Formats: sequence, C-alpha cells, structure tokens
Amino acid sequence: MVKYERLLSDRTELLRASEVRELLKLTEGKKIISLAGGLPDPRVFPKEELAEIAREVILERGDKSLQYSPTAGVTEFREELKKYMGKKGVKIRDDEDLMVLTGSQQGLDIIARTMVDPEDEIIVELPTYLAALNAFRVYRPYFTGVPMDEHGMRTDILEEEIKRLKWLGREIKFIYTIPVAHNPAGITMSRDRKKHLLEIASKYDLLIIEDDPYSFFIYDEGVDITPLKTLDDEGRVIYMSTFSKILAPGLRIGWIIANKTLIDAFERSKQTIDLHTATLPQYIAMEAIRRGVVDRTIEVARKVYRRKRDAMISALREYMVEGAWWPRPVGGLFIMIWLPSMEIDTKKLLPRAIERGVAYVPGASFFANGMGWNTLRLNFSFPTEEQIEEGVRILSDLFREELRGRERINVPLMFGMK
Ligand SMILES: Cc1ncc(COP(=O)(O)O)c(C=O)c1O
Repeated sequence: MVKYERLLSDRTELLRASEVRELLKLTEGKKIISLAGGLPDPRVFPKEELAEIAREVILERGDKSLQYSPTAGVTEFREELKKYMGKKGVKIRDDEDLMVLTGSQQGLDIIARTMVDPEDEIIVELPTYLAALNAFRVYRPYFTGVPMDEHGMRTDILEEEIKRLKWLGREIKFIYTIPVAHNPAGITMSRDRKKHLLEIASKYDLLIIEDDPYSFFIYDEGVDITPLKTLDDEGRVIYMSTFSKILAPGLRIGWIIANKTLIDAFERSKQTIDLHTATLPQYIAMEAIRRGVVDRTIEVARKVYRRKRDAMISALREYMVEGAWWPRPVGGLFIMIWLPSMEIDTKKLLPRAIERGVAYVPGASFFANGMGWNTLRLNFSFPTEEQIEEGVRILSDLFREELRGRERINVPLMFGMK
C-alpha cells in the first residue's frame, strides 16, 4: 500500500482539516438549521437572466467566450469592471490596474504568495476572515492581531503594535482589513478610524489590503461606506471584491485593484496557478453588469437580507442569554455573538447544538491570537426567517443551560462601552 500521507509537503501540513469543518460537513443535506455558512439565498440568483445571457455569449460570442483569455482577465470585462467600480465610488489611480480573479479567495492566496516570506508579519483584525488566515498561513508568516470595537479596528492599539514590531525589527508586510460589514464581526469601520488607519499606514510606510465583498449590502440609511481605497492619496491600499454575493458565487469571479507593479507581479503568480480565470463566466458577468442584472440582484438581495437581519436581531433580543453581546451589523451576512463567560467554549458546544438541530461557526478560529472561544458567528442570508427564529431560540436555551453557575464577564465593558 502506498503511504500517501507520507508524500504530502510540509506546506500541506499547515492545511490540516479543521474539526469544525469536518463536523459541519456532516450536517450537509441533513435536517439541520444551518446558521453556519455564508451562502447567499439561492432565491436571489437571477437564474432566467443568467440563462439568457449564457446562451447568447456562447452562441453569439463563443469564439471568444469559450477560448483561452489573458491572465489579467478579458480586456473588455476589465474595462467594464473599472467603470462599475467608478460608479460605486472606488477610486482607481492612474498608476493602478485591475486584475480579474477566480473568486476573491484567489486574491488572498496570490497576495501572500507574491509578497510574503516566512516570518514576515501580517497584521489582522481580531477576529478576521478565517479563510484569509488559512490562505496566508501557507506562506508561514507571523500574525499580529488588533482588536476591534463597534467602530472597527482599534487603530490606537494598531499603532502600539506596529511600534512594538518595529522595535523587534520585524518586517510588516501588510495590514489586512474588512472595513465594511466585517466577516465575521458584522462591524463597519467609521470614517475617523479609516482616516486614522491611513495616517498610520503613511507614518510607518505600510500597505493595507481592503477586502470588500459586502459594501453592496448595506441595510441602514446614512452609513458611510467610502472605501479606504478612495480615501488613500498615496497608493497604499490594495482593494479586492467579488461577484459572489452580488451575482452568484458559482461563477467564481472576483477582482483586485493595486499599483501596476504589484498587478504585474500578481499576474505572474496567477499564470502558474490557473493561466487565467475561466473565460465564460467573465463574459457572463460582463453582460450582467451591462444589462443591469447585477444592480437589480443587489436590490433584491438587499431587501431579502435586511428582513433576515432584522429577524435575527429580534430573535436575539427575545431569546439570547442575558449579558451576551453582539454588534448590530449595518450590512453583510453575519452577526457575531460574545457570550458572557470565559468558561464557555463554543467549539465544545457545537456537537450538542447540532444534536438539537442547529449549526453555527465557533468563533475561536477567526482569532489569530487563540482567543475568542466564547464567541460564535451566525449567518442570516441563507436560512429562512422561521429557521432564524427557531435556530436562535434553540442555541439560546443551550447557552443558558451551559452558563448556569459559571463566572460571568461584562462583555460590553471589555469593548470599552458601558
Ligand atoms: C471577507 C471575505 N473575503 C473573501 C471571501 C471570498 O469570496 P469569493 O472567493 O467567493 O470571492 C469571502 C467569502 O465569504 C469573504 O467573506
């Protein structure tokens, strides 16, 4: 028998399957209320329109749409995306360019693969997007975590951490942030914090990665979602976004905007990964923008998700254990909950929640510093409103039982609030 395990590289060792992922896999297709994933509601997919577009781009433009295409993306599509970004208020400087990605997840890998050497420092929010940590981890960096409060990354602490790292002589490669409708925390960075973050990046000569899948889904009035990219005068921001939530994740189309020198290097990396992103979905996405399908999908999704967010907040207010705290998301797909005891471990509780018919993602894996075991992430885009209420009720009962007799902490106070 071949000992396949023995043949795996050290790098692959870093990608060990997580227990949580394995557990959640077991729930697929079962009668479980899943508050775990981050899937769009499939009722939002514009199926008829996409079918019509796909038929046309294959039959009428098949010579191109079924052919190999440039590594940076189909030229017409890139131009269309740049215009679209302009309309959404994302500034692209003259010395910058846009490259198409096979999902923005690929951007995370390409950035790290192209820029990160072993033992470089990457600064992330506490918590941050788990799959970003995993993508970066392969290239063996150190992570420094900066906590968040309801206004986003604590930039005062960021500066202290940067000073400490500089004093230690460490090489800080970039700061990774999800400023709007954060995954998993649901928090949106205030304008003041964004400005402070850019000032700090300038003062210490650092680069920022702005991961922005969710700014299209803002449910409240008057929220400032000006991208860091637009506020930046020095070319310090690499911006990424995706069609996954505004059209369909199955198309696997994302994009990245950065200085031309970086885009050129990213292109070289991408060439070895997949030559180019699949041509056909690029044509489909391009037509979907041109025909207004993307904007209409965003409108529909925004209404559906706003209702679901409200349903989750009402259920949390009604059922969730006293002392638990969650930032109210103005957009996005997630709510993160902090339970009021450090003696509770949501990872250990997950099998029992699944037994009772509800799945969630334990928060600890989102924390680069090993904390967060008393937190969990809930998704509200995929489940129905009824499932949201039922799921939150079941989880709250479980947490209430588990918290009985445990030492409590004051979570809002931890965040500097009364
Ligand atoms: C913050 C963040 N970045 C990147 C991604 C990856 O998205 P995709 O690869 O589908 O574009 C996601 C998906 O949920 C996300 O939440």
